[in-house]
Amino acid sequence: MDEKLQTQIEPHTQAVIPESIPTTAPKPHKTVEILRKSVEYLDVVSAGKKLDPDDKNHIIKHTLENFDDYFNKGFLQYRKSVAEAEDIAAIEWTGQGSIIEDIMGRKFIDCLGGFGVYNMGIRHPKIIAAVKAQLERMPLSSQELLDPLRGFLAELLGELAPGDLQECFFISNGTDAVEGALKLARLYTKKTGFISTTGGFHGKSMGSLSVMGRAVYRKPFHPLLPDIFFVDYGDIKDMERELRKLHDLGEDIAAIILEPVQGEAGAVVPPEGYLRRLRQLCDEYGILLILDEVQTGMGRTGRVFACEHEGVTPDIICLGKALGGGVMPLSAFMSTPKIWKVLEDNPFLHSSTFGGNPLACAAGIAAINVMLEEELPKQAAEKGAYLMKRLRSLHALYPEILKEVRGKGLLIGLEFSDRFIGYRVAAGLFKRGVLVAGTLLSARTIRIEPALNISYELLDNMLDKLNDTLKQVEKETKDKPAKPAP
Ligand SMILES: Cc1ncc(COP(=O)(O)O)c(C=O)c1O
Repeated sequence: MDEKLQTQIEPHTQAVIPESIPTTAPKPHKTVEILRKSVEYLDVVSAGKKLDPDDKNHIIKHTLENFDDYFNKGFLQYRKSVAEAEDIAAIEWTGQGSIIEDIMGRKFIDCLGGFGVYNMGIRHPKIIAAVKAQLERMPLSSQELLDPLRGFLAELLGELAPGDLQECFFISNGTDAVEGALKLARLYTKKTGFISTTGGFHGKSMGSLSVMGRAVYRKPFHPLLPDIFFVDYGDIKDMERELRKLHDLGEDIAAIILEPVQGEAGAVVPPEGYLRRLRQLCDEYGILLILDEVQTGMGRTGRVFACEHEGVTPDIICLGKALGGGVMPLSAFMSTPKIWKVLEDNPFLHSSTFGGNPLACAAGIAAINVMLEEELPKQAAEKGAYLMKRLRSLHALYPEILKEVRGKGLLIGLEFSDRFIGYRVAAGLFKRGVLVAGTLLSARTIRIEPALNISYELLDNMLDKLNDTLKQVEKETKDKPAKPAP
């Protein structure tokens, strides 16, 4: 620390492990043990010692036990049921670019991309360097002084976003961005209703869940927000009908919310012109258009934002996932100065302690730099076209099991004849060292969503392994019909 600054600050006693253990902790008899374990775990975090085989086995054992005993119990059971028994112990350890390595040193080609987080690859050196430098100076905000990075990133995004989307607010998760967008739309329009789409995925907090188009996540939490109406995704006639009906019934609709390409639903691309017509309809009915680009943004589909394919500017856009460069959690919702005016009187109508913190903003600034410098949207478009061509050849080779190949840029979905086949393909790829994304709770569609700067060599490698897997699964399916995955 700067010497002058240090002398101005009152000396602090250095933090040390207390000699007498506080007895006010909730489980005082366990405090010594917790302290001992925290030291052991910090040693692992700081890689203070080189791991020998015993250490590795110890970590694997503890990870499994801890997930089972302390973390969201069903999670490990679910993993156990969808992963081959031997693979449950694949403990994530490190990664670089498009390669992930487990603790035993097994390497995987990352074609899952953290469900859209790793557009720039894992541990991009420029993004890591920016975050490390900021970490050394000021990791989180004072909450009172102005943080320059928040302004820098807001400016870059304001310049990058289409049309007059200029104002923004930072939070940490995609669902937070959607919550903010819904609130802003209600505030501005003074209307309550929303139209969303079947199959749409917008996050799992209550507001986002209310506009989510999947029963499995919605039903356990009913009743959700009122006045939410659903239409079939990509079906413009259904949207026109619904709008006419709601208008005739006098329902107050604040906004339509949807993804320009549905990610979780399995890379579902709407027909050409869908977004343009939606924009017209919104203007006609005086309704806002919210585009959830949490997964499609930051170059994923071949443009910085997927809405640019149709030259459409929404009234509110939601960003997340790759916005933090695959290093920090960061999300945003953006809108126009005209709409944002409703927040001017009380900008604290929406707030977040960690949203837009300096570490996240450093990552966001570096992510934008890398995206533009490496022309990631262009890479996504070119590599996406290359992959689609090769995947369509595989579709022609294995039409009995691989039913459809679709997508845009490097957001690609492979749809199988049923989820059991999809599961076998995902498991076969895993065994061969390729990670792909089975959509949550359903493997019928597998998503291929790699880093946008993945090499052609790795893509070819993945395609060879996919060919092998499909050959094997097709043969097994002919020999004996698919057995349901547990
Ligand atoms: C389009 C879209 N919106 C919102 C979300 C929710 O993001 P998060 O899990 O960061 O809250 C997701 C997550 O997959 C998403 O794909």
